[in-house]
Amino acid sequence: MKQIITAGIAALSLAACSSGSEDTEPDTTKGLAVQEWGMVDGKQVHLYTLTNAKGNTVTITNYGGIVTSWMAPDKAGNKANIVVGFDSLAPYLQKHPYFGALIGRYANRIGDARFILDGVTYQLAANNGKNHLHGGNKGYDKVVWEVKPVVDSVPALTLTYHSPDGEEGYPGNLHIEVIYTFTDEDELLIEYSASTDKATPVNLTNHAYFNLSGDMGTTILGHTLQVKADAYTPVDTTLITTGERRSVEGSPFDFRTPHTIGERIADVPGGYDHNFVLAREGAELEKVAVLSDSVSGRKLEVYTTEPGMQFYSGNFLDGTIRVNGGNLLQKHGALCMETQHFPDSPNKPDFPSVVLKPGEKYHTITKYKATL
Ligand code: BGC
Repeated sequence: MKQIITAGIAALSLAACSSGSEDTEPDTTKGLAVQEWGMVDGKQVHLYTLTNAKGNTVTITNYGGIVTSWMAPDKAGNKANIVVGFDSLAPYLQKHPYFGALIGRYANRIGDARFILDGVTYQLAANNGKNHLHGGNKGYDKVVWEVKPVVDSVPALTLTYHSPDGEEGYPGNLHIEVIYTFTDEDELLIEYSASTDKATPVNLTNHAYFNLSGDMGTTILGHTLQVKADAYTPVDTTLITTGERRSVEGSPFDFRTPHTIGERIADVPGGYDHNFVLAREGAELEKVAVLSDSVSGRKLEVYTTEPGMQFYSGNFLDGTIRVNGGNLLQKHGALCMETQHFPDSPNKPDFPSVVLKPGEKYHTITKYKATL
């Protein structure tokens, strides 16, 4: 059974999702539709459809806080899905490379799967060779998030998760809240908040894979990217940052002016999988990257309060996973722009601190805007 909530310009509330409607299709008017999507860990999983005033939609599940689709128009007005996802819950429960998911407690890698904080060594799961990746064996991408009632004039969803002390080896009970909002300007706003009762490293992001053509059978090598970054953080052979911030000048990492991704990728061993040091003006939400596809005319702007962005060109995609639209997602079939603090910061004292202490509030905002 599906429950439908429509908002119009009136307030909408998940708390009021008791309409009992038996409709099977998402409502096409602005608002939030909810459908049951299966069970995980004995908990009900739902799929939420956020529809804006233009009739464009984003779908999000509370399993892993995953963005499963985003329908955006091309220059001819044809809508297509610009993020990689699956049409049902079952494939998300199999191994997949974090499609669209919320990532934590620590996004990206922690070298040798350990860190020292206040004199104590914390051992984490080595789930990426000898390193720790994206929160460990069961990160926030694999848990069922609670959904809190939302009251707003635009479709929004508040997800909360309580990460217990010791989960995946991290210290402290961490309470996390993520608010997804889909605006009438086709912006997907993601607001992350967290608080802890013990000092702990925190680095939250979303792992959406984009292909603006809407055809997941193609590659992103012809997409054009611009990133406001004068430096990037080089990595060793296991993709752990060396601690250096290296100028992008004269290198294939210089995206200060737009370049196609394929233009210089052959000069980057393995392809792009690097953190860019964003050239920020201040601490507020700022535009830091623009991705565009000249064929469809679609663009995606990235705004964030974070100091870094991982540009991952889908190097490990290998044509073995069948995704939405029925295509096998090939190497470079989609890319990620994960806003974040720098990889392995817990072991890199010169990088901006990622330690959240009791009494402090973790708060970051990232916005993706689909435009033409
Ligand atoms: C990492 C890649 C990794 C991918 C999927 C990205 O954030 O930088 O190295 O393969 O996530 O796990």
